[in-house]
Amino acid sequence: MIDLTIAEIAHIVGGTLADISTDEAAATHVTGTVEFDSRAVGPGGLFLALPGARSDGHVFAAAAVSKGAVAVLAARPVGVPAIVVTPDVAPSGDQMSGVLEHDTDGSGAAVLAALARLASAVAARLVDGGLTIVGVTGSSGKTSTKDLLAAVLTPLGEVIAPPGSFNNELGHPWTVLRATESTDYLVLEMSARHRGNIAALAAIARPSIAVVLNVGTAHLGEFGSREAIAETKGELPQAVPASGAVILNVDDTAVAAMAAKTAARVVRVSRSPGADVWADGVTLDELARPRFTLHAGDGEVDVALAVHGDHHVSNALCAAAVAFECGATLQQVADALATAGPASRHRMQVVDRPDGVTIVNDAYNANPDSMRAGLKALAWMARGGRRSWAVLGEMAELGDDAISEHDNIGRLAVRLDVSRLIVIGTGRAMSAMHHGAVMEGSWGSEATMVADADAALALLRSELRAGDVVLVKGSNSAGLGALADVLIADSADQGGAPTA
Ligand SMILES: Nc1ncnc2c1ncn2[C@@H]1O[C@H](COP(=O)(O)OP(=O)(O)OP(=O)(O)O)[C@@H](O)[C@H]1O
Ligand SMILES: [Mg+2]
Repeated sequence: MIDLTIAEIAHIVGGTLADISTDEAAATHVTGTVEFDSRAVGPGGLFLALPGARSDGHVFAAAAVSKGAVAVLAARPVGVPAIVVTPDVAPSGDQMSGVLEHDTDGSGAAVLAALARLASAVAARLVDGGLTIVGVTGSSGKTSTKDLLAAVLTPLGEVIAPPGSFNNELGHPWTVLRATESTDYLVLEMSARHRGNIAALAAIARPSIAVVLNVGTAHLGEFGSREAIAETKGELPQAVPASGAVILNVDDTAVAAMAAKTAARVVRVSRSPGADVWADGVTLDELARPRFTLHAGDGEVDVALAVHGDHHVSNALCAAAVAFECGATLQQVADALATAGPASRHRMQVVDRPDGVTIVNDAYNANPDSMRAGLKALAWMARGGRRSWAVLGEMAELGDDAISEHDNIGRLAVRLDVSRLIVIGTGRAMSAMHHGAVMEGSWGSEATMVADADAALALLRSELRAGDVVLVKGSNSAGLGALADVLIADSADQGGAPTA
């Protein structure tokens, strides 16, 4: 964070000081980071007391101070130096995450609102000092693209980007507050559960460059319709000032239509000629890593991505377009993309085991679009005679479409000629996936339904053999990440998988 005193922060967030009795104490500088986990607090830090699933952050205030926090941002006095904000609002039902699930008295909402005010003030000062804020939204690929963006912008200056998928009302301001005077680029992933969520995030830190990747069906159950999802994603281009740039993946018609929503200059990105930044000659290597020619203006350069799956072409084009806005050359972009492998966990992580089995760990989450993308990558990697295994868990939050979307995925697995489909779970949605596969022509043991990830592991351990390719994918609740991790650790000499 930028250097601010406790008194300055209190002024920004509209809080009062508690257990800070002298002006001298109030003039103490916060020089460290802002943290919601007391274990992460370091010297000079600021600790956020938020309600949690098991305990209330206020309980950890003293622990945070002993780790070096100079103050706590809290909803009540905590016996150590604090900036106290009053819970005057009811807990918001409009949250993006479970952050405020345990906020029974509005104290969490008050601390988060204060955090937003602090992040907003800090972002505004840093932008005045020359910081460029880049915002990314879309139904699928935000985190992947955020990681590619960090890679392509790093040659140009100091980049702050969130770890993993920090994209909600807590992770977003937390990330903003990692930026300092020396930061050149702040890359922010912006996600939504409801209309207005992205506008709220953009109000905290207004991007001068925005990327919209796609409008899919992720969280369809929450939104009700794809149109509502498009409207919400459209809040990002709307927030970009006329002096900024909006990067649109025009291969998605709902994204292309957002050109009408922004005052900013529009940069069109496509896999077809005629766009501002585009790709042609896309091929995949044996591990489904895309290669293509990247075109921008009159220039072109050959690109070989280090991430797996054809779907990353548009993510990479969007990242490249941002880099060009920031002054990168074609060669700088190609060089950065060539070494930018999967950076956040459980997203198309491809591991060749010593016993000849390849595990594709894409277990972080799943929606119909990313399932299709993952299955296509699996089919590609297995072409030439390898056996392919799709080990799939449920796609969460699809509302009324859950049954038909799961049925579609079961059918797609068969159409892509996946050798073995393991459906994990026996509820209605997973039964529909299994049924879809059977109806599409899967027979015998080609499609198997098992109760849980342990049963899937037992089956895989007994049947995998050298040459097999295994995709593990589902929404993150299903324990599939752990399954994939165990499969990666397994190998023949550990008694895991027999070789053929
Ligand atoms: N452009 C894309 N189209 C379809 N699927 C994609 C695309 N980009 C990434 N994916 C796949 O979507 C899944 C999630 O990727 P990623 O974590 O990057 O998305 P996200 O938008 O950040 O998701 P979340 O909303 O959970 O934060 C992965 O399986 C990934 O391979
Ligand atoms: Mg994400």
